[in-house]
Parts: sequence; structure tokens; C-alpha cells
Amino acid sequence: MGRANNPVPEAKTIIHPVDDSAIEKARLRILSGDLVAFPTETVYGLGADATNSRAVAGIFAAKNRPSFNPLIVHFADQKAAAREVTFTPLAEKLAAQFWPGALTLVLEKRADSGLSDLVSAGLSTVAVRLPDHPVAKALLASLPCPLAAPSANRSESISPTQANHVLESLGNDCPMVLDGGPCRMGLESTVVDARGNSPILLRPGGITLEDLQDCVGPVALGLEPDDTEKPSSPGQLLRHYAPSIPLEMNCRTPKAGWAILGFGADIAELATLNLSESGNLTEAAANLFAMLRKLDCGSFDGIAVAPIPMDGLGMAINDRLNRAAKRP
Ligand code: TXA
Ligand code: MG
Repeated sequence: MGRANNPVPEAKTIIHPVDDSAIEKARLRILSGDLVAFPTETVYGLGADATNSRAVAGIFAAKNRPSFNPLIVHFADQKAAAREVTFTPLAEKLAAQFWPGALTLVLEKRADSGLSDLVSAGLSTVAVRLPDHPVAKALLASLPCPLAAPSANRSESISPTQANHVLESLGNDCPMVLDGGPCRMGLESTVVDARGNSPILLRPGGITLEDLQDCVGPVALGLEPDDTEKPSSPGQLLRHYAPSIPLEMNCRTPKAGWAILGFGADIAELATLNLSESGNLTEAAANLFAMLRKLDCGSFDGIAVAPIPMDGLGMAINDRLNRAAKRP
């Protein structure tokens, strides 16, 4: 068989700069049950109508995501979210402080909820959030339904913080990407179980533990060990954010053939790339995924990452690096 008989499939994904007509095209796609990737302040999401099971099934297929891993549902406003889940006083308080923003609340699904059962992956709860990004807000405001949206990457790979990352990861499995430029935060939302009287942190993210404590007092850590049989946040079980080469944390000296991902001024001269020369954790979070992608380019045998403090956003940065460091 000659080459001509096996042409490389043409890229069909369309990356749209955002204007009113792009939002209208995205709206029509969502209403017809298709997928659209859109920017949020954290990472790009792969969105589908959360009330349409066929559309939600399309997300799991495109991402190659295990069906036990539930999805976050994104809303235009809290009233719309309150039609699907039961807000506790704790959830009200957290939402008042952090929404719209990088906080996802796990709450009991209401008996009369119109959400597809697939978003909960067999749990009685739904994870809900109001994103704080003009494009996500405009798309949600144009729709009669909320959007189920995981990060717009193949399961277990690095989350996308730019429109071209979505294309690189999902190719033609994502037919449309709304291009809102680089994501401001660059780390996924913080996931909190807010069903009870006090919060349980399930995934560290863009809203820090200190932010949560300032708002509602003590926060229990519900971060799952890797071998739990019944995880409270199933996505935490997966080896996430993984580059294709080994990654080691807390490195202070170079390793032959390895790239150094620096943090702070100490290692600046040795660093192949530096998350933040001034040691700023907000800047480091915004750079993390894009820099991991750049270093995972075929030129290095591994990625050695400089020590990063655990306070503030450092907790979420270290969480993602820790997962990336796990080999299958
Ligand atoms: O910033 C973000 O959160 C991005 C943007 C697009 O909103 N989304 C995102 O989604 O990171 P995803 O699917 O990559 O991660 C969702 C996490 C997973 O760890 C999942 O297990 C957890 O949230 N989750 C979803 N629903 C849950 C539920 N009902 N109970 C507990 N954990 C849940
Ligand atoms: Mg993800």
C-alpha cells in the first residue's frame, strides 16, 4: 500500500478567536450535543451540555477518561447551581466568598436535578463551580444548560493552559476550541466537600488552604492516598499531569541529560526554565503546565524540579508535581 492510500488525516479542529459569532457557534454546537473547549481562569475545559447524557458520554470518550471519575459542572450563576444541588450553610459561605472563582464545591445532588447521571459517575453528589473568565461566562450565559467540563486534555496528561495545548492533546476529538489566550491561574480549581458543617479539602488548587481557613476556620484534608478503594474524589487516584519522561522533585543539583525546572533566584543560572525567578508562587502556578510541556519535548532524559515551598499555591503546585513524578 502506498503512502497516498493512507493520507494523514486533516486537522479538523477549529481554534476560534473569541467574538460574538464564535460564542454563537459554540452555543449551537453545545445545544446539538457536541463538545466545545473553552478557557476558564484555571485551565481550559472540555464542555458539553450537562443535562444531555449522550453529550456527556462524548467527553469521556474524547478524553479516554475512566467512567468512575466524575465531572465538574459549570454554571452561569449560583441560582442555576442551586436547582441541581443542595447548598449547605457552609457552601453558601464559601460561594459568597470565592464565586465566581477557582473553587469547586461537592454537594448532594437534588432528587429533581436535571443533570445527566453520568456527571456523577455513580456518586450521590455533584461537583459544581462558577468560573471567573469572560469567555466561560459569556458561553454559559448564552446557554439554557450548565456545562459539564473536565480539563481539556487526554486523561492522565498535563492540563491545557493555552488553546493550542488542547489541540496538541485531543486533536480532532475536540471539534472546536474558543481561544481566550493563556489561563490566568494555570492550576485547576480547589475541590472541597461542603456537604457537612466543616469543609474537607479533596484537591488543592487555585484557592489556597489558607484562603479557605480564613473564610471558614479549620479545614480537614481529604486528599486520597493512591490505593484507596473508595475514593471520595476519584480523580485523585489517577496518575495525573504526567510528562512522558521521569520527573524528580526537590532537586538542588543538575543531573546529566536532565532539564532543570527552577524556582527562585538560587538555581536561576542552572535552570533550563524557571517557574519564577523572584520566587513568586502565583507566577509559578501560571507557568507550571506550559513549562512541563516545553521540557517534555524530546530533548531531555528527565525533568529535575527545584524545591518549592508548601505554603499558599505551593501546596497545589507540589501536589501536581508529586503526581507527575509517579511512574506507571
Ligand atoms: O479548574 C478546574 O477544576 C477545571 C476547569 C475546566 O473547571 N476542571 C477540572 O476538571 O480540573 P477535572 O475533571 O480534570 O477534575 C475534576 C476533579 C477530579 O479530581 C474529580 O474526581 C473531582 O474533581 N470530582 C468531580 N466530581 C466529584 C464528586 N462528585 N465528588 C468528588 N470529587 C469529584
Ligand atoms: Mg483533569
